[in-house]
Order: sequence, then C-alpha cells, then structure tokens
Amino acid sequence: MHQRPRGAVTATNEPSELGGAGAASLATGVTRSPEATRAVGRALAVLSQPGDVVVLAGDLGAGKTTLAQGFATGLGVTDPVTSPTFALMRQYRCALAPVQALLHLDLYRLDRLAEVADLGVAQLVEEDAVALVEWGDVATSVLGDDLLTVWLRPGAEPGERIVELWTRGERWDGRAGELRAALRAGASRP
Ligand SMILES: Nc1ncnc2c1ncn2[C@@H]1O[C@H](COP(=O)(O)OP(=O)(O)O)[C@@H](O)[C@H]1O
Ligand SMILES: [Mg+2]
Repeated sequence: MHQRPRGAVTATNEPSELGGAGAASLATGVTRSPEATRAVGRALAVLSQPGDVVVLAGDLGAGKTTLAQGFATGLGVTDPVTSPTFALMRQYRCALAPVQALLHLDLYRLDRLAEVADLGVAQLVEEDAVALVEWGDVATSVLGDDLLTVWLRPGAEPGERIVELWTRGERWDGRAGELRAALRAGASRP
C-alpha cells in the first residue's frame, strides 16, 4: 500500500482514509506516459476554482510533480514547474482567470503537523488561489474541510500509473462528474 515519506509528518491516516477522514474514492484510471498524467493535471486545473486545495499523494517518483506541471499549464502558468522540495512552497502567477495564483507545496521535509497547520493553506488560497500539496495526505487534518486528493501509484507495466481521485467536503460534491471526465482526459479504465 501507500508508503509514508521517511522523516515526514507523522502519518495521521490509515490507507483506508487516504484523502483524509470523511473522504471517499471517486474514480480510478491508468495513465501510460508522463504526458498522459500531465493531461489529467490540465483537465483538473480547468475545473478548479479559487480556494481549492488539492493533495497529491504517492511515493517518490509516482508522478506528483509531473501532474502538477500539467495542472499549472491548465491554469496558464508559463514558468517551468519543478519540485518545490527544498523551497516548501512556490507561487506561480496564472494567466487564466478566475484563478490568479497557483501555490505548489511539498511537505516531504516537514516533521511536525503543527508546521503544516501554521502555513494556513486553506486561508492562503481563500481569495483567488489554488494549492497543490505534494505529500499532503499526511496532513489532511490541517488542510481544511474540503479536499481533492489525487493518489498516484505504479501500474502493472513500466510507465503506467494508477490515478485515483478522492474527495471530501461539499466544495467538490457538485463537480464529481467533471472530475471523472478529467481523469478520462489522460487515463483509461484499469
Ligand atoms: N504514467 C506516468 N505518469 C507520470 N510520470 C511517469 C509516468 N511514467 C513514467 N513517469 C516518470 O516518473 C517520474 C515521476 O517523477 P515526479 O513527477 O517527479 O514524481 P514525484 O513528484 O511523485 O516524486 C518522472 O521521471 C516521469 O517521467
Ligand atoms: Mg515531487
């Protein structure tokens, strides 16, 4: 199952609670190339709204940053998106309204849940931004009530990734159909 990052925030969720307490699995697909994973990211970005917090879960090399690159493209970000591991958070300006900024976080190096809580991610995005949080699945208790979690894991073949969407909270309820469609942008059924 899902491996916890070494040295990262103490795990708070059982695998059955991936996406955080109260989350439900919505849809699963398979991508067969990094470009297909980027396409899923782009499609998710197009339906994102200011105030959204999106968790990217999965082991090192699963494809979290790859999906984030597609997501950024979908918001009209032109700067190259790289792993924010050493920066904790990077901010990108978006060319496409209504989302004005993309916050890209990586919690891999944080070792206390309080540090994540102090970031106040749900407040940071409130006005006009969207947050993508790599390794955020270990901190769902402090990332706000409403979350979309994208869980990436290796598929049967090299170059394959299983992409599973989890949601919690009313914010995402009305977008279930769109989320399933976004997954189909790059993925096929497992
Ligand atoms: N279907 C796929 N989706 C995403 N990445 C893939 C896929 N197949 C192979 N890869 C490779 O896996 C690696 C994923 O790296 P990255 O996105 O940085 O992972 P993470 O941020 O989860 O550590 C990249 O080298 C990418 O080219
Ligand atoms: Mg990464």
